Amino acid sequence: MIDHGTAGGFNRRTFLSSGTIAAAVVPLAAQAKSGGRTMEQTAATAETGVPITLRINGGDHRLTVDPRITLLDTLRERFGLTGAKKGCDQGQCGACTVHVDGRATLACLTLAVTAQGKSVTTIEGLAAADGTLHPMQAAFVDNDAFQCGYCTPGQIMSAVSVVHDGHATNADQIREAMSGNLCRCAAYPNIVAAIEQAAPKMKRG
Ligand code: FES
Ligand code: FES
Repeated sequence: MIDHGTAGGFNRRTFLSSGTIAAAVVPLAAQAKSGGRTMEQTAATAETGVPITLRINGGDHRLTVDPRITLLDTLRERFGLTGAKKGCDQGQCGACTVHVDGRATLACLTLAVTAQGKSVTTIEGLAAADGTLHPMQAAFVDNDAFQCGYCTPGQIMSAVSVVHDGHATNADQIREAMSGNLCRCAAYPNIVAAIEQAAPKMKRG
């Protein structure tokens, strides 16, 4: 198990307790109030963490998180897993899609604390241990199913779930099932072709 309690030797707690920030905050705290809360109280709330254990791409990781932080920010900022993208940060584009216990999940709408005890898979964990691409990844390459690539990790994670859920029997069904994943480059025809190619291989695998 990897302890991420002080990732990089620097976290919200060390920042808030540093001399620089304390010098800046304390004089203001004596006079500034908002909604009945002093800035000191706000800082104290912000540094309150919740210890959790996350299973990410097969490995268990212990860390302390702000209870308000999303799974997306935790993956990207604490683990450096930047495959899942922050497109809209409000559940509308699908760029942040990961698997939680095998189900496609919008990481931007999921609090990290709610993933405690569940298995999280990101695009970084989809290929085999020897580096062999997942059939869906290979099919996206074969079909040029991307242009800028920004939406691609989310597209692939959703596509894997669509096949596993049995919603990839024809092109219309695929388009409907993938409608939550937007692509600004409009690579949709190639994405559908990739899923049609990968689906039978996944069933065999
Ligand atoms: S970033 Fe999560 S749905 Fe857009
Ligand atoms: S490939 Fe550019 S947004 Fe989809």
